[in-house]
Amino acid sequence: MEDRFGHHISYLRVSITDRCNERCQYCMPYEEQDWLDRSNVLSYEELLRVIRVGAGLGVSKVRITGGEPLTRRNVLWFFEQLQAIEKIEDIGISTNGTLLARATEDGITTAQALKNAGVRTVNISLDTLDPAEYAKATGRDYFDRAIEGIDAAREAGFEKIKINSVLMRHRNEHELWDLVEFARERDLLLRFIELMPVSTTEVLTEENFLPAGEAKKLLEFRLGKFEARPNIRTNGPASYYEIPGTGQIIGFIGAMTNLHFCETCNKLRLTCEGKLRPCLGSHHEFDMREVLRDTSMTDEDVAKFFLDVVDRKPEQHEFRENYQPGRRMVAIGG
Ligand code: 5AD
Ligand code: SF4
Repeated sequence: MEDRFGHHISYLRVSITDRCNERCQYCMPYEEQDWLDRSNVLSYEELLRVIRVGAGLGVSKVRITGGEPLTRRNVLWFFEQLQAIEKIEDIGISTNGTLLARATEDGITTAQALKNAGVRTVNISLDTLDPAEYAKATGRDYFDRAIEGIDAAREAGFEKIKINSVLMRHRNEHELWDLVEFARERDLLLRFIELMPVSTTEVLTEENFLPAGEAKKLLEFRLGKFEARPNIRTNGPASYYEIPGTGQIIGFIGAMTNLHFCETCNKLRLTCEGKLRPCLGSHHEFDMREVLRDTSMTDEDVAKFFLDVVDRKPEQHEFRENYQPGRRMVAIGG
C-alpha cells in the first residue's frame, strides 16, 4: 500500500480498548469514566479480520495499544490468534507495564505469556522514577507495579524493550539523566517523547512543553555530545543517538518540533471502535465498523476501504495548526 506522498504502509497500530487502569493527565482527563459501550468496541474476531485483510495488503507489523491493552479480557487468546496470521512478522504491544508481572492461569507472568504468544517488542511508558511524581502524573500509586512489570518483561526475554518517557517541563526535566541511567543499567531502549495535544485536559501549555532539542542539550551538558545514529530505525519517527563512551543508544520523538517527522511514516491506526485513522495528528478518521458489521460486505470490500483510507493519508500531521482538542489519546490508541 502506498499513499499519494510515497509513504509505504506496512504498520498498523491497533487499539483494542479505551479502558485503562491509570489516568495520565496528558492522555485522559482525571477520573473520567465514560467508557465506550462494549458493543461499540470491535470484537476480537472483528479486529483479527481487519488485521488479516491488512496483512493481505502489505501490513507486516502490528502494535497492540489501548487504553491499556492488558486490561481487556482474554487478551492472551487474542495475541495467540494474531500470531497465526500469515505475513504478520512483527507483533508489538504498548503498555503502561503495570500488569506485565501479573500471574496468568498457567502460573507464568503475563510478560512471559505474551512472549510465548509471539510478541517481539514491548513498549512501556515510564515518565519518572519518583513514586510520588508517578502517582501524581498517572493518578495511580502504581510505580512499584510498573517497575515489576519492566523486570518481568526483561526476564521474559523479549527481543526489544523500549521505555517511552513523555517530556514535561518541571515534571521530569530534572530526571532525564536518571532515566537514561535506569535504561542503561537494564539494557532498555529509552525514547523521550514530546508532549502532544491529544488529551481533553489542557496539558500542552507553554509551561509544560519541553522540546526534545532542549532535553537533548540538557543531557549533553552532562554526558557529552551525542552522536547521531540515523541508521537505527524502529519503524517509527524517533531520532536515535549514541551517548559517547557508553555505547548506549537513546531516542527522541520530536512530534511537535521536528519538521521532518512525518516523512517516513508507514503507519495506519485502528481505534477500538473501528475507526481507521490515516494519521494520529489529523482529525480524519473513517468508520470501518460499519463495513465490518454489514453482512453483505466481503473481505474485498474491507480491503477497498483500507486502500481508500490510505489514499487520504495526509502528507504530515496537523498538530501545529489544527488539532482536535476534544479527542482523547486513550480513544485513539497512543
Ligand atoms: N503526548 C505524548 N505522548 C503521549 N502518550 C500518551 N499521551 C501522550 C501525549 N499527550 C504516550 C504514552 C505512551 C504512548 C503510547 O503514548 O506515554 O508511551
Ligand atoms: Fe493509560 Fe497509557 Fe493513557 Fe496513561 S498514557 S492513561 S497509562 S493509556
